[in-house]
Amino acid sequence: MHYPTSAPLMALMAPTALIALSLTACGPSTSEPPSQPEPPPTYEVPAHPTYTEHIAPMMDLHCTTCHVQGSIAPFPLETYDEVSTLAGFSLASMHAGTMPPWPPGPGCGDFQQPRVMLPEEIETFQLWFDQGRPQGPPVDSTDDGHQETHDELTPDLTLDWGFEYQPRPAPGSLDDYRCFIVDPGLTEDAFVNSIETRPGNPLQVHHLIAYTVPDEAFDDVDALLAEDDRPGYECFGSPRYDGAQMFAGWVPGQVRQPLQEGHGVKIPAGAKVAIQMHYTTLNDPDGSDRTEVDLFFVDRDEHPDPVEMVLLQLAALDLFIDAGDPDSLTTIDSPLIPISMRVHGIAAHMHMLGTSIRADALLPDEEICLIDIPRWDFGWQGIYLYEEPILLQRPFRTRLTCRWDNSPSNQPPGQTPQDVTWGDESSDEMCLIMLIVERPEGL
Ligand code: HEC
Repeated sequence: MHYPTSAPLMALMAPTALIALSLTACGPSTSEPPSQPEPPPTYEVPAHPTYTEHIAPMMDLHCTTCHVQGSIAPFPLETYDEVSTLAGFSLASMHAGTMPPWPPGPGCGDFQQPRVMLPEEIETFQLWFDQGRPQGPPVDSTDDGHQETHDELTPDLTLDWGFEYQPRPAPGSLDDYRCFIVDPGLTEDAFVNSIETRPGNPLQVHHLIAYTVPDEAFDDVDALLAEDDRPGYECFGSPRYDGAQMFAGWVPGQVRQPLQEGHGVKIPAGAKVAIQMHYTTLNDPDGSDRTEVDLFFVDRDEHPDPVEMVLLQLAALDLFIDAGDPDSLTTIDSPLIPISMRVHGIAAHMHMLGTSIRADALLPDEEICLIDIPRWDFGWQGIYLYEEPILLQRPFRTRLTCRWDNSPSNQPPGQTPQDVTWGDESSDEMCLIMLIVERPEGL
């Protein structure tokens, strides 16, 4: 199916990718994921908050999925001393809205498992800080405050590239983007309903995206592997071959997020898988990693005809960012899309100069905000599932709004601003959303 593309260009790419997701919190590497408790719907600010009664439970709910010893966050927030020492710093990050990390802004998209604090919780932390950080009544020492409920799930398949990899960033950088190729050996199509990622080295794994490799691309992938003198191959921004279909994504702290029952993203029989790893060497420059991804398929006995989910990419390809421009803006409407879609989730993608991205659906008599990320952070790319799928009735358009900062102060070390256009390289940019939809009729 083809859509007219005209300048300004907006491409609606055919189901390039699928999706599915879920995952584990970033705790100590080997443990099962703790499930994220729901924040209380209402919260009363206590007059005299104490650490043991009020602050420790708050840290458990919002911070220690990541801020535990041996994980990607730069320091633990598990004991009175740790939290008390870093209280001012923590408070500042809560007020600034940078911690806990949750890129989507308020008022757009009713997403599952939002990682946000209530204003009353921040007020409680502030009060505790202002009143001298009282410790409060002692707790039972056998209770470390962590709520660990374990999912007893047996995966249908585990993706494992099979060796320890030592990340090696390019000079002047702390990041290494590597793709590893795995052959899952599927003899029939599988539909991925959820995944669980077990980072081998949680100090280094910043995010992961898994893509299918169709057999037409096997030669290209072999060439990429042969050209690279280290294990796997370098793959910033995209896996660098045609026909890549995303089917899973994970960022630290992401909790289990299955698609609806009987819904899944297809991995065709015979396809290989590319696992794109984003490593940071900030916390562990000499360490190595071997991450495993457990896949959970739709049970074909219970659901002989799974609902196939596909991932549609909407991209503003015609972007031009002037060298030096501190606030370059691109707003592009798609052509009229003549099919209805049921949207279950969304992901957004830009590169390093991006500052914000927003997508709206323009229906004949209403506009629906699909996602709004007011402070783009390349390190915190997530896949967001809606509480309720959104039905986009045909015909509709989508509007993408992206902003970039290409000023001298926002460049990689030692570099000066250049004019920037669309592309895969880290010095190029993108303005892209991916909608996770039930495969529309006729597509
Ligand atoms: C999803 C994982 C995650 C959660 C949840 C989380 N943090 Fe962080 N935190 C990080 C990481 C990773 C960093 C290092 C900087 C980065 O990569 O963004 C960080 C950095 C920080 C910093 C350093 C300053 C900054 O803003 O970068 C502070 C302070 C902080 N976190 C406090 C907290 C507090 C307080 C909470 C709970 C209210 C919390 N964090 C929840 C992962 C997390």
